[in-house]
Amino acid sequence: MKNTKIAAPTGKLGVLIPGLCGAISTTLIGGIEAVKAGRGKPIGSLTQMGRIRLGKRTEGKNPLIKDFVPLTDLDNLVFGGWDIFDEDLYTSALKAGVLERPQIDSLKNEFSALRPMKAAFDRKYVKNITGPNVKKGKTKYDLALQLVADIQAFKRDHDLDRAVMIWCASTETYIPPNDVHSTLAKFEAGMKKNHPAISPSTLYAWAAIKCRVPFANGAPNLSCNIPALIELAQKTGVPICGSDYKTGQTLMKTIIAPGLKARALGISGWFSTNILGNRDGEVLDDPQSFKTKEVSKLSVLDSILHPETYPDLYKDLYHKVNINYYPPRGDNKEGWDNIDIFGWLGYPMQIKVDFLCRDSILAAPLALDLVLLMDLAKRAGRGGIQEWLSFFFKSPMHAPEVYAENDLFVQLEKFENNLRDMMGETLITHLGTEYYR
Ligand SMILES: NC(=O)c1ccc[n+]([C@@H]2O[C@H](COP(=O)([O-])OP(=O)(O)OC[C@H]3O[C@@H](n4cnc5c(N)ncnc54)[C@H](O)[C@@H]3O)[C@@H](O)[C@H]2O)c1
Repeated sequence: MKNTKIAAPTGKLGVLIPGLCGAISTTLIGGIEAVKAGRGKPIGSLTQMGRIRLGKRTEGKNPLIKDFVPLTDLDNLVFGGWDIFDEDLYTSALKAGVLERPQIDSLKNEFSALRPMKAAFDRKYVKNITGPNVKKGKTKYDLALQLVADIQAFKRDHDLDRAVMIWCASTETYIPPNDVHSTLAKFEAGMKKNHPAISPSTLYAWAAIKCRVPFANGAPNLSCNIPALIELAQKTGVPICGSDYKTGQTLMKTIIAPGLKARALGISGWFSTNILGNRDGEVLDDPQSFKTKEVSKLSVLDSILHPETYPDLYKDLYHKVNINYYPPRGDNKEGWDNIDIFGWLGYPMQIKVDFLCRDSILAAPLALDLVLLMDLAKRAGRGGIQEWLSFFFKSPMHAPEVYAENDLFVQLEKFENNLRDMMGETLITHLGTEYYR
């Protein structure tokens, strides 16, 4: 049991968002403004709506997480960011089509006041979109320095104590591990030589960490998830985490798979397909961006089921994931899963899941939680990869010597025990009669 010294969340917290005009960003910002005005509740946000048990079951102590740990108040968040579109967020929110028109109109003042800074963008890495609001620079290093200047100016102009950066921009094309990612020195030399394996998302992450700004990666592309930037985050004591918000289908997968495994039921196949019609769907229609997403989505089952340890149950599992761009559905994604399972003596059974979800409605509360918790991590002196935030991600970043923890319930326990540990509370281990739930 530790009692971490946590600096108080004084003053304003800047929230810097690459992808400011996108569906998640506008839903996040609009949602927070609506909550502040008492016109909606932050449903799906663990920090705002979730509670944490403290002490023994007999004590009845279950405070809201936001009342237990010192988080920044929603009134003290200041938003800014970058996008390739040169438009205010009122226009962007209408285009995203997630929030309904009367709700967007009721936030017209707040939305109209926000416009993105010029993006570090290169169409080589996101093939299906283009826009005019893009930085110019001879080298990738020049672009990264411009991002550093943007961060500093944003903090200065808004008189901010602290800032957090959260990636809500498009998924980039798949980039396999490359020697230029392996050390900070090679990465910085690579930026100056315009190395092709250095994508814009890694420039934003570098700039954030350089400015001592925690960085969370909501998409599956690399950004902070390369050895060079993990090294920089460790050196500078800056928290980083990722990758890829765990929202629709993968959320369901990480709820169902641990349950089947807990009952020692076998799985021979898991077929997942989606239809999605928003801009994210359009970007993922490019095979190279889809590949990045596919790798993230496929990694989940193996690390929950451990087929090497349970060969009789999971060794032959066939896992397939598809995403189909289908404009009529907009942001309202439909995700189907067919799960072929087997039981006693190998008799087969099937489970069908049809999740009619809303992509950004599920993602916005995760983005809010990550902003608040990454700021908490920084104030608590925690640098480097924040594995305790795996709960929020499809493909959680982790130490190289361990596998990623993808089981939602193990992730939640880890998350809660980390908060108890930070605040000097007894950890709940379910051992012994006095702590047994
Ligand atoms: N449920 C979800 O919605 C969900 C879940 C997991 C991950 N994600 C990921 O989150 C990201 C955002 O999702 P979205 O639905 O808001 O997408 P979106 O397409 O609506 O928004 C992305 C925005 O990023 C901008 N952009 C692209 N490259 C940029 C760059 N280099 N710099 C600045 N801006 C840039 C685009 O112009 C666009 O406005 C995507 O990568 C998506 O795959 C979404």
